[in-house]
Amino acid sequence: MDSDDERDPLDRFMQGSDVSIVPDQLPSVRYGEKLQLSFPGPDSTITVDLILDASPGCGGVAWPAGEVLSQYIVQRGPQSLRGKNVLELGSGTGLVGLVAAMLGGTVYLTDQAPLLNIMRENVQVNKLSHLCVVEELNWGEPIPADIPRPDVILAADCVYFEPAFPLLVQTLCDLVGEDTEVLFCYKKRRKADKRFFALLKKKFRWDDVSDDPARTTYSRESISLLRLTKLQQPSKLHG
Ligand SMILES: C[S@@+](CC[C@H](N)C(=O)[O-])C[C@H]1O[C@@H](n2cnc3c(N)ncnc32)[C@H](O)[C@@H]1O
Repeated sequence: MDSDDERDPLDRFMQGSDVSIVPDQLPSVRYGEKLQLSFPGPDSTITVDLILDASPGCGGVAWPAGEVLSQYIVQRGPQSLRGKNVLELGSGTGLVGLVAAMLGGTVYLTDQAPLLNIMRENVQVNKLSHLCVVEELNWGEPIPADIPRPDVILAADCVYFEPAFPLLVQTLCDLVGEDTEVLFCYKKRRKADKRFFALLKKKFRWDDVSDDPARTTYSRESISLLRLTKLQQPSKLHG
């Protein structure tokens, strides 16, 4: 085990999880604990109230990459999301998607079944039912027919569990079209994360998001904010 592995906070969720895609639970955050997070923007500050619950899995608490991605979309201003179809993958509490809705996007908050209730509650608490749809989306499975192709995909802290790496790449492939913007915020934890990027490289290229003033600060915590672009598949030869 290397030093990244030793200090990994997600280890507490991973005990005994080799056979399950849903990581084991962190007992310390009980249902109903609340968190208020504020993200200052160019014109105003966006504030989200979050109900937490670790019992349905690691997504029931707020993760650092989610806060970084939320702050980035807020500081970019509402013009980049207003009126757009936005989809958040592995949404957990719903934090990033809720922020996107507060910026005027129509947002699909997606995750595995055990997280749907906490996301629904957070949509209600923040009075965003008119802009948010909560939907089960298991990576690697067909995209539910009622989810429209998104203009923007948001994903935060979704690289942590090796069996899910190919599933996440598959879902990104299924969802991303030529004009889709994909903002992918990632905290490096294990050496094994490299294997995710080795898979991703077959289908996507990525660039650091360079216009984020907070970049130097979160880079120190091994967090990267990337923009993914789908590679063109070689055209089939005819004749
Ligand atoms: C570390 S949490 C991050 C949650 C949230 N994005 C944040 O930043 O606070 C990872 C999320 O990915 C979800 N997830 C893991 N495997 C998944 C899968 N196979 N399909 C869909 N979601 C998955 C988990 O349920 C969890 O909500």
